[in-house]
Amino acid sequence: MVCERCGGTGFVTREDGRVDLCECRFSQENVNVVLGIPKRFWDKDLDNYIPETEDEQNAFFQAKAFVETFGEEEGESITFWGPPGVGKTHLAVGILKRVYKEKGVRGFFFDTKDLIYKLKLLIEERRTGRTLKRILDLPLIVLDDLGSERLSDWQREIISYIISYRYNNLKSTIVTTNFPLEEGRGSRSRLSERIDPGTVSRIYEMGKVVYIKGKDRRKAGGLKLWHERDR
Ligand SMILES: Nc1ncnc2c1ncn2[C@@H]1O[C@H](COP(=O)(O)OP(=O)(O)O)[C@@H](O)[C@H]1O
Ligand SMILES: [Mg+2]
Repeated sequence: MVCERCGGTGFVTREDGRVDLCECRFSQENVNVVLGIPKRFWDKDLDNYIPETEDEQNAFFQAKAFVETFGEEEGESITFWGPPGVGKTHLAVGILKRVYKEKGVRGFFFDTKDLIYKLKLLIEERRTGRTLKRILDLPLIVLDDLGSERLSDWQREIISYIISYRYNNLKSTIVTTNFPLEEGRGSRSRLSERIDPGTVSRIYEMGKVVYIKGKDRRKAGGLKLWHERDR
C-alpha cells in the first residue's frame, strides 16, 4: 500500500547522497495523490515539522498523540487554529500521512474553499449524491482553512451538514482555521461569524482544539530567500 522505496515520503536518497523524487510520485502508489494532498505540501510530514515555540511544541505533541490514539470507529477529531503561516496545514498533512502509514486508514485532504466550489459544480450538474456521500463517510478528512471565505447561506449549510453528519456518525475530521472558536480572544473575528455557531460547538465537542501562536513561517522563509539573494 505505502511505497517501499520511500516509505510514503515521495523522496529517496541516492547512493551519492542526493535526494531524488521517488518513482511512486508518478504512480498510483503516491501517498500524496492517494490522500489528496496539494503539491505544495508533498514533502511535508510530522518528521519535518520543527516546533520552536511552546505553542508549536504543544501542537506537535497533540498531533502525534492524535495519531497514536486514532481509531477508525471513534470519531475523534482535532482542530488547529491560529494566524497564517504557523504550520496548521503542515500538521494536518502530517497527521493524514502518518495515520495512513501507521494505521492503514486512508483519509483525504480538502481545502474547504475548493471543496465547496466542487460541490457547487456537482450540484449544478445534479451529481452531488454519491460524491457527497463518499466524502461524508471517509474515516478521516482534513477541512483546511475553514471559514477563510465569507460563505453564502447554502455554503454554510453544506459545511454544517458535513460536520454534523461526521459528528453524528463518529467520523474523524481535522480542521484548520485562522479564526478563534470561542469568545474573548481579542477583537478578532470569530469562526461563529463565518459558519453556523451550532457547527462551531460541534467542532468543540468532536475533539481537541489546539491554538498555535508561533510566527509566520512564510514571512520568515521569504526574508531568508531575500537575504540569500543579496549575497
Ligand atoms: N514548525 C514548523 N516546522 C517546519 N516547517 C514549518 C513549521 N511551521 C510552518 N512550517 C512551514 O511554513 C509554511 C507555512 O505553514 P502552513 O502549514 O502552510 O501554515 P498555516 O496553515 O498555519 O497557514 C509551510 O511551508 C510549512 O511547511
Ligand atoms: Mg494553511
